[in-house]
Amino acid sequence: MLQPTLYRPFLSGRYEVAAGLFRLGVQPIPWRDDGAVEAHTFAFDETYPAFVASKAAAHRRGLHEYAGEANLTPDLRLATLSFLATTIAAESGGVVTWDGERLHNALLGWTVHLDLRRGTVEHLSRVPAPLSELLADIHPVNALDVLGLNIQEDLALIARGPTGDWLAATHVLNPQHWDPRDKLGRDFLGVHAPVAGSGPMNATAPRLVDAVISRGPFVRFAWGIAMSDRLDHHPAAPPDADRHAQTRFDPTGAFLRVERQTLTGFPHAQGALFTIRPYTYPLLEAVASPVHATALTQALRSMTPEQVAYKGLNGLIPDLLPWLDAHAGTLF
Ligand code: HEM
Repeated sequence: MLQPTLYRPFLSGRYEVAAGLFRLGVQPIPWRDDGAVEAHTFAFDETYPAFVASKAAAHRRGLHEYAGEANLTPDLRLATLSFLATTIAAESGGVVTWDGERLHNALLGWTVHLDLRRGTVEHLSRVPAPLSELLADIHPVNALDVLGLNIQEDLALIARGPTGDWLAATHVLNPQHWDPRDKLGRDFLGVHAPVAGSGPMNATAPRLVDAVISRGPFVRFAWGIAMSDRLDHHPAAPPDADRHAQTRFDPTGAFLRVERQTLTGFPHAQGALFTIRPYTYPLLEAVASPVHATALTQALRSMTPEQVAYKGLNGLIPDLLPWLDAHAGTLF
């Protein structure tokens, strides 16, 4: 399997709360070393087992805290599930196959009959396979759950109706300090209300939602500094060092967390699929040259105090900025 792609969205030297949408398959991604154009929605790489294990732990602890539906229409359910099954199989490098009725995953040892129109699991059979133990005690509840457990990405569905847009479904098993239950059923503004400095972006919400449904697909990136590489930071999950009051910055225990997010619209079903794929890189790898250190320190300094607090950086900044400044010099 492939190594995870390394993205450095801080290279712009500015932290921005903005749409930042790139056209998938058209616009090159400046945050990659090779600046390549990307066309994929789903990335399967060598961290796949860690994602399956993390999703299994969330599922076991309480799936309802991570996954749910709010007035999901049958059309949007069918459009999304069809896209997911077909695209996951096409982009899995041979791990997953889909024949229109049965999904087979060679690493999980699962063969699942899905009814996409009803959104149900009709039958699941399991055989021993390299990762079958990770999900041995997990019983998927519906087709979206099956598809979400097969991939590294988290999933959310945006729907639109005569009175506006709303978050119609989540299968977000690795959230970064937010609770999908707080967001289900809310519109773009409600979902993004806690984001410091989101006023200007929120003012364009109707246009953004329209673009996402009618003019994609798009890819965008979010990033932050984390003091743990655990994938699941659901507020109700057991706490760890990240965003813990006692945690101070330590370069050897710090990570750059990047979220690669895609948006694929289904205009005929009045909705869109939002995918979230977290990447956690040791900070010592993400900041590999003085150019990187300079850009990151500039980006962090461009945050308002409210944004520093929102990103959970208050306790880290006093030691993080001097460390970056030293590395922006000639230490490399
Ligand atoms: C056009 C589509 C979207 C754009 C441009 C967008 C943009 C943003 C931006 C700029 C942020 C702040 C990132 C940061 O922490 O630095 C953010 C945060 C967030 N976004 Fe979106 N977003 C979009 C769609 C969605 C959708 C569909 C969801 C549904 C789950 C979502 C959920 C969130 C959440 C949960 C946060 C963090 C809010 C919190 O801390 O409670 N976004 N988004």
